Amino acid sequence: MRKKVIAGNWKMNNDLQASENLIVELKNLLLNNKANCEVIICPPFTSLSEASKLIDGSEIKLGAQNMHFEDSGAFTGEVSSSMLKSAGCEFVIIGHSERRHIFGETDEMINKKIKKALSAGLKPIFCIGELLAERDNGTTNDVIKRQTLNGLDGISVDQIKNIIIAYEPVWAIGTGKTATPSQAQEVHSFVRSLISDKYGKKTAENVIIQYGGSVKPDNAKELLSQNDIDGALVGGACLKADSFMGIIILA
Ligand code: 13P
Repeated sequence: MRKKVIAGNWKMNNDLQASENLIVELKNLLLNNKANCEVIICPPFTSLSEASKLIDGSEIKLGAQNMHFEDSGAFTGEVSSSMLKSAGCEFVIIGHSERRHIFGETDEMINKKIKKALSAGLKPIFCIGELLAERDNGTTNDVIKRQTLNGLDGISVDQIKNIIIAYEPVWAIGTGKTATPSQAQEVHSFVRSLISDKYGKKTAENVIIQYGGSVKPDNAKELLSQNDIDGALVGGACLKADSFMGIIILA
């Protein structure tokens, strides 16, 4: 039985004060409604170390939204895995569609980032997902297969246990268009079959596969009740403590 994982990707939102306010509100809500799932927040880099102090003693876990695959050096504007570790992160989102499509990240870069994150003791939340044009021309599975297998190239059966996969159809991100529960389930089950082929059935059954793309309290229940949907990677709806909590209590 897989425990559900609800993660909030804050994206480029919330300065330090707004981050503190949101975390304090969420912590208070969680005191009154115990979560049955794992709860992760991924604030921007500038709020991570303060967030790490604020969540101490609560059930909230901390993740970052990106990292570089090198250890250090002349990479202006980038942040390394050890910096994230020292800021208190346990997780890091890797290969989000906004990184792929706005910042040009390739499967190869994403694979290097996953390997570096794991070697630093961070757990990657590895994002995959097709564009609308790819869904429309019937190549969703090809894209998902390519992204999954390239991203996991050289990853061992022991390492996959520390990776969360997040399926986020790009056309559903920030658009208010959610994949229907059955559309999402179909891809999740396909991803699990890819993991099963590569790592074996038992390992595949334990891998967490989150859904992301316009998840809200009013559509989360049906999505989360699908066999292969093990949680959500939430964007817009995680920016308000009550709507994020509204999803957490359904998991
Ligand atoms: P929205 O929930 O705003 O669609 O964003 C999803 C997402 O990209 C989470 O990583």
